[in-house]
Amino acid sequence: MGSLLVDDIGELVTNVAGTGDGSPLGLRRDAAVLIEDGRVAWVGPARYAPAADRRVDARGGAVLPGFVDSHAHLVFAGDRAAEFAARMAGEPYTGGGIRTTVGATRAASDGQLRATVHRLVGEALRQGTTTIETKSGYGLTVADEARSLRIAAEVTAETTFLGAHVVPAEYAGRPDDYVGLVCGPMLAAAAPYARWVDVFCERGAFDADHARAILTVGQAAGLGVRLHANQLGPGPGVQLGVELGAASVDHCTHLSDADVDALASTTMDRVSGPATTTVATLLPGAEFSTRSPYPDARRLLDAGVTVALATDCNPGSSYTSSMPFCVALAVREMRMTPAEAVWAATAGGARALRRDDVGVLRPGARADLIVLDAPSHLHLAYRPGVPLIRQVLHNGVPQCRS
Ligand code: NIG
Ligand code: FE
Repeated sequence: MGSLLVDDIGELVTNVAGTGDGSPLGLRRDAAVLIEDGRVAWVGPARYAPAADRRVDARGGAVLPGFVDSHAHLVFAGDRAAEFAARMAGEPYTGGGIRTTVGATRAASDGQLRATVHRLVGEALRQGTTTIETKSGYGLTVADEARSLRIAAEVTAETTFLGAHVVPAEYAGRPDDYVGLVCGPMLAAAAPYARWVDVFCERGAFDADHARAILTVGQAAGLGVRLHANQLGPGPGVQLGVELGAASVDHCTHLSDADVDALASTTMDRVSGPATTTVATLLPGAEFSTRSPYPDARRLLDAGVTVALATDCNPGSSYTSSMPFCVALAVREMRMTPAEAVWAATAGGARALRRDDVGVLRPGARADLIVLDAPSHLHLAYRPGVPLIRQVLHNGVPQCRS
């Protein structure tokens, strides 16, 4: 493979707090990055850069860690554009459309599902996402959940079993029976392909008792816990997640003071990121696409909670694969600073996946980097909708160039 030097960097975002400008982004100027064997080998002043076999000239652009999208649902068939149009005409989002996608997904071939996953992962990569999580949850039979995860595992190590997305139509009125299926044969078939277990804990989906039962047996099977919590209304999800040591509780749109306190109590040190932190992952693409009030990011940040940003890419509530779009929404609509939003979309996503090898540029980390067609990270929010990702390096390998 040989060594590769990235230089002529306008601004380097390392996310190594206390270095560079001393901020959480660890900003450096006049820096260069040496890559060897798919890993960052050296970061330092360009004038001291070691010799390398090849060079990537950033041409004065900002260089950041690749985005870490810690919440997506990429294994599905069909789309729900008509449901989106109805919402824009005033219909509320209830999650009821999930069953439409379940029908289409069950009817699809493996090849069709695989093609969609690859298309969306490629789309995300071109927009700077180098780590992506994806869930099952549109199969809802033992066979369809297992195949969704098998296909997801072909493209990412961050796979999540979401058999408890909704109670499928054939179990209507029998949620206990469906939870028994999820906890028994479905988990057994899914676990070999999954790293995480997730539940949609919401009125109309799964209550706290069902969620606790599923997450607990998932944990016993060796899966890490994350959950959809407090999206459509207040509820028990966030505190349940904290109680179970979840890596992340996602959505967090309707929070009580006790929810915020519970999350803050897990964040002893935002800089070193202990493995006990429960991250609040905010998904502003969902509020955008459902025309709903955004989560109160400032309340969480001011309480010391670790915040991540992710796309929630799915055909119903948020059909975007764009982390730059989510960064722009977070800044404009949720009053995060550009630095907070960029941190949340990179290092925050890594924390939400309990990873320390991505979302950061320091020796030993994966060489996942993006080069912007702009001189600083500020431009990601300042120039919304503009394709600013000039180049992506994934495991040290240049992916695309424009
Ligand atoms: O995260 N809330 C539950 N699941 C998805 C929506 C899925 C859908 O509408 O198809 C979400 O928003
Ligand atoms: Fe989701």
